[in-house]
Amino acid sequence: MPQNTLHTISTMKANGDKISMLTSYDSTFTHRINEAGVDMILVGDSLGMVLQGLDSTLPVNITDMIYHTRCVKASNSQCLIMSDMPFMTYRTPEEAMTNAAALMQAGAQIVKLEGGLWLKDTVAKLFEQGIPVCAHLGLTPQAINKLGGYRVQGRTPEEAQTMIDEAVALEAAGASMILLECVPSAVGKAVTEAVSVPVIGIGAGPDTDAQVLVLHDMLGITPGKKIRFVKNFMEQENTIQDALQAYAQEVASQDFPAPEHCFE
Ligand code: KIV
Repeated sequence: MPQNTLHTISTMKANGDKISMLTSYDSTFTHRINEAGVDMILVGDSLGMVLQGLDSTLPVNITDMIYHTRCVKASNSQCLIMSDMPFMTYRTPEEAMTNAAALMQAGAQIVKLEGGLWLKDTVAKLFEQGIPVCAHLGLTPQAINKLGGYRVQGRTPEEAQTMIDEAVALEAAGASMILLECVPSAVGKAVTEAVSVPVIGIGAGPDTDAQVLVLHDMLGITPGKKIRFVKNFMEQENTIQDALQAYAQEVASQDFPAPEHCFE
């Protein structure tokens, strides 16, 4: 199977096929995720919490992201690779260009930035220079101190409308994908209907085009309380490989996410 591209993923959306994505930060898991038939990998800055034991993603730096993007690229065969731009590495379009270029050279096919309308010029500049962008809306963990906690976003009609308007404006600026984290299912649906690019959801209901989970969460090995939108696939499978495969299949068949993983 050839490596998935933006075109492959857009075609899946156009055909109504649901798209699966998992985080990965290393070569061995990347190999396994490819074998399981998952469509996309996110080299997420969640690696700060998952690998480095930090209490937020804020201290993650571009060197970390370049290193882990290289590790993933080394054994990737089929998945589209998206890499996160860490906190404060895209304050201006120029700074974003330098840092995004380094991630693309390490093996990313698209970079993800957290934020709303203020990112319009940056998205346009990166797109113009051949760097596709995924805009991350809803719960944006890099803004955790401003948000005041890991909470569902877009609960009021005004907040929901702002999110829809931001998604539309960022698509118009050149964003190739939107990622929505922790929003009511109705908002996930409304944003997905408002844009033509693929929308990836995590805790955003069943109607987004794609689903993403943090690998260690869906394998049930993350310490602490289980988050509502996470399903532990090791509860029903005997091996890691079977759990990864079950995830890809349940996203494709729309059995995941179930109502118990969604917010009203
Ligand atoms: O860093 C990450 O893993 C993410 C997901 C939670 C979407 O951004």
